[in-house]
Amino acid sequence: MIILGIETSCDETGICLIKTDESAITHKIEILGNQLYSQIAKHKEFGGVLPMLAKREHAKNLVPLLEKCLLEANSLIKKDKNQLNHEKEESIKIILEREKELYDDLVKFLREIEKPNIHAIAVTNGPGLEPALWVGITFAKALSEAWKIPIIATNHMEGHIVVATLKSDKLNPKSYILEPITHPSLALLISGGHTQLVLIKEKLQYKIIGNTCDDALGEAYDKVARMLGLTYPGGKIISDLAQKEREENPNKKPPYVLPRPMIHSKDLNFSFSGLKTAVLYTIKKIPKITDQVKQEISLEFENAILDVLIHKTSQSIEKYLPKTLIIGGGVSANITIRKELQKICQKYNLNYLVPEADTSTDNALMIALAGYLNILAGKETTNDFKAEGNLRL
Ligand code: KG4
Ligand code: ZN
Repeated sequence: MIILGIETSCDETGICLIKTDESAITHKIEILGNQLYSQIAKHKEFGGVLPMLAKREHAKNLVPLLEKCLLEANSLIKKDKNQLNHEKEESIKIILEREKELYDDLVKFLREIEKPNIHAIAVTNGPGLEPALWVGITFAKALSEAWKIPIIATNHMEGHIVVATLKSDKLNPKSYILEPITHPSLALLISGGHTQLVLIKEKLQYKIIGNTCDDALGEAYDKVARMLGLTYPGGKIISDLAQKEREENPNKKPPYVLPRPMIHSKDLNFSFSGLKTAVLYTIKKIPKITDQVKQEISLEFENAILDVLIHKTSQSIEKYLPKTLIIGGGVSANITIRKELQKICQKYNLNYLVPEADTSTDNALMIALAGYLNILAGKETTNDFKAEGNLRL
């Protein structure tokens, strides 16, 4: 099956074309084309993502990325004869009535190219920023109309989970093997918008057993980074500073002590807003925020997070006895968090599934894959759906 994945939930515009081979002994996923445009540079000066700017950037970049993706996949066949008839153009105009520029770009492109060989379009319909989601969805619906291809609406968080099951094929960098998951499994999702513990009793059946009461983990990283005068998104920068401090001063007693929020609560929920505020009060008391201070605060902040993540994940494992631990979401790119959770898996004898470094943060491969797995499982394709900013698993 060939699936086109489209991701526009936040500040990454992604288009990916995958070819699946479910009949092979090992379930294979081949990347035919994979394009990602990060808008981070555009949002940096505002210290966070502006939804309407994100939407405009997606609208500007979707057609060029689709063109690059089809080129990469050798699926771009130019034609002299117009490939769209009047009726289709009119339908696309209605779908993209609020996106004049995207309509102009897309129709011009579609007139000139032959319909590529694609069986379904998977597009993120939530959770995320609604204006950003909306533009990806209308783009998918326009393509579906032009090429008469079904759409599978896809949950972004499910994408973060399933992408952890892809293991690269050593012989072919563009090919992955889909590892089977032994259920029940537990997923720890840590991203810019979410912090969740999810129990997966069987394939594609999710139950949220723990959630953040306030800020998401990535959001806390980014806000603390901002307080320390670091650029957006600061998760990786904080994590690098923490690592530097760990290496330079391995036996030093932390000069600042931050709380471990909700670590003793009986439930599996998280809270990071208090931790962030504690950083703010700590910083206020320090006369000069030197590079050394930044390192020390970053390390104590990351240690507080590690303590909470390890405790809550262990609690969930003891309560639900999963056979597999999956981690996903942008913060799962964090090397220390990956290592510490691996130790938990060794302790409880669990399989450990972690996304490859470049698929931890948002991308369209995870959406194509989640869409594909849902089609395989019999979920209906439909064009009758909308953007759902708060969509749950
Ligand atoms: O999943 P993602 O790409 O976007 C959302 O769906 O939210 O996650 C982005 C988040 C950002 O908050 C970013 O700072 C954080 O992931 N992040 C990290 C690291 N790499 C990305 N946080 C901590 N350590 C990292 N190495
Ligand atoms: Zn994400």
